[in-house]
Amino acid sequence: MALLSTTSNIQIIAPQLELEEQGSNSLMRILDEYYRLENGVKVPKIGLGTWQMPNGRATYDALSFALANGYRHIDTAHGYGNEPTVGSAVRDCGIDRREIFVTSKLPPDIKDKEGALLSFNSTMEELGLEYLDLYLIHAPWPWDEVGHDFRLENSRVWKAMETIYRSGRCRAIGVSNFEISDLTFLMEDCEIQPMVDQIRFYVGNTQERITHFCQENNILVEGFSPLATGAILGNKTIAAVAKKYDSTVPKICIRYVLQKGVLPLPKSTHPEHILQNVDVDFEIETDDMVLLDSLKHTTRRGLVRKGLRMIARSKPPCHEN
Ligand SMILES: NC(=O)c1ccc[n+]([C@@H]2O[C@H](COP(=O)([O-])OP(=O)(O)OC[C@H]3O[C@@H](n4cnc5c(N)ncnc54)[C@H](OP(=O)(O)O)[C@@H]3O)[C@@H](O)[C@H]2O)c1
Repeated sequence: MALLSTTSNIQIIAPQLELEEQGSNSLMRILDEYYRLENGVKVPKIGLGTWQMPNGRATYDALSFALANGYRHIDTAHGYGNEPTVGSAVRDCGIDRREIFVTSKLPPDIKDKEGALLSFNSTMEELGLEYLDLYLIHAPWPWDEVGHDFRLENSRVWKAMETIYRSGRCRAIGVSNFEISDLTFLMEDCEIQPMVDQIRFYVGNTQERITHFCQENNILVEGFSPLATGAILGNKTIAAVAKKYDSTVPKICIRYVLQKGVLPLPKSTHPEHILQNVDVDFEIETDDMVLLDSLKHTTRRGLVRKGLRMIARSKPPCHEN
């Protein structure tokens, strides 16, 4: 199967961090905790999602607020159209760039090596950063061809990801929305194994097979939509669990993801939510984890469907030719 990640031939522009509990000076311990990728790079345990946060002032303010309050991990994508704002907030915040972990993603309709290299350059220009911390293939298929087989094309794109990693302009590479068959195909022919798979993950939707596969293969699972894009917030069973801990539904949902060994990426533009989503320095007891594990229908389905339609509609901008 896969070759392990290698650091040979890498020109390190991005510093390989040794941020021993570098400290955000936050009261929340979770903000100083990390997952460690297969290549040793540390990833702050909670990231701020930015999907549906438009380029501009409101997003800049939300990101600046999050960074000022201890967040050190931001998840964006070329397709979100907000890379310039993410870059500005990171550059302007006064925090050492090495303390902030920035992820972006290759648009899923780019399925050739040259196109991927060009798109990465465009992402870096938009961000205005010297290096990226994590670059992901956004999905195994273009949004309008979900489920189709692009495994061969993804292998070609992965060659570009390896080139980018070796150039030192990105500290880690991975994929998103990949199933086991997408990953195994890629891993048979890769030189550097994907270090992350970012997948939809929330109470009631834990994608156990792919999660287990990744965790067995040293691939960090990042959980997107940990609040089911808002559709889980009214769940009565989770609310009952939250009451027991004098907590809230979002906090239980985020804590649950962490206790599954997965990295949650909650999105919020509201200061009080941004703060609440990292106020998770507590432990959900085993019995309650078992109860949460058993929940199957946790969301208002209409809202999830609306979210999926929005993903399908959010066509990323074309890459330069
Ligand atoms: N790789 C992929 O294909 C993919 C797909 C989807 C998402 N993602 C990533 O994952 C991130 C998160 O997923 P998501 O955007 O679907 O949403 P989410 O984090 O599951 O939920 C966000 C929704 O919950 C609300 N919310 C957040 N915190 C709250 C709180 N404490 N109390 C009440 N409401 C709260 C937000 O509203 P407010 O903003 O008003 O607080 C927003 O409506 C994305 O932003 C993106 O970075 C990746």
